[in-house]
Amino acid sequence: MIGFLGGTGPEGRGLAIRFALSGENTIIGSRDNSRADEIARKMCDQYGIDNIGSGNNLEVAEQAEILFITVPYSAQRELLASLRNVLKYKIVVNTTVPLGFHDGMPYILDIEDVSASVEAQILLPDSQVVSALQTVSARDLAKVEENMIGDVIVCSDSEDAKMEIMHKIDSIPDFRTLDGGRLANSRYVESITAMLLNLNSKYKTRSGIRITGI
Ligand SMILES: NC(=O)c1ccc[n+]([C@@H]2O[C@H](COP(=O)([O-])OP(=O)(O)OC[C@H]3O[C@@H](n4cnc5c(N)ncnc54)[C@H](OP(=O)(O)O)[C@@H]3O)[C@@H](O)[C@H]2O)c1
Repeated sequence: MIGFLGGTGPEGRGLAIRFALSGENTIIGSRDNSRADEIARKMCDQYGIDNIGSGNNLEVAEQAEILFITVPYSAQRELLASLRNVLKYKIVVNTTVPLGFHDGMPYILDIEDVSASVEAQILLPDSQVVSALQTVSARDLAKVEENMIGDVIVCSDSEDAKMEIMHKIDSIPDFRTLDGGRLANSRYVESITAMLLNLNSKYKTRSGIRITGI
């Protein structure tokens, strides 16, 4: 089962519906059970499916084997510290980007551990942290009638966890995953995400990435 910590936001909901439609059992987490229940029930009704469950973040962390972190970066430290024991030996996929805003335009925060995903691995020493999907727009994920365009760069210090997550993401049509190497490389993906958000604002669009030559 795939769980989404803070899965009630646009990114968590978008990923949950895409994975659910590709046949995975999913579960949406929240600080508030009733909020997660309502969102999961609505999504199941809307798409005529029954494989999106719900719970509070602790229940979701207990039940799922793979957890996606889909909270704002500012909430990451407290959330992961509180779930450290439950997440032991599990795969934790981090989508967060440490963003600040200047005159409404996003930039990458200068954080102590350089990358949000490296910070997550330090907070969860006994979990296998994988970084992925930062460059993917939640609004594109929500448009399930359209296939996903673009590449997803996946980074981790665990080769097995990275391969498993690449395989799962590849099951969403038409994503292409690329092996981005070790978890420290996540800093580059997080940075390009800030650039994409600036481009989105300038060109009034939703940009993504496609790597040429591979
Ligand atoms: N939106 C995008 O297009 C996009 C694209 C790529 C990556 N991402 C990344 O995905 C993550 C989620 O993005 P989003 O737009 O879905 O974010 P969001 O709507 O701001 O937050 C997602 C959920 O996080 C929970 N949350 C908020 N503050 C929290 C706190 N202090 N402690 C614990 N939980 C908290 C909330 O759930 P409850 O209130 O139900 O607990 C909320 O629904 C971000 O880190 C972002 O960088 C987003």
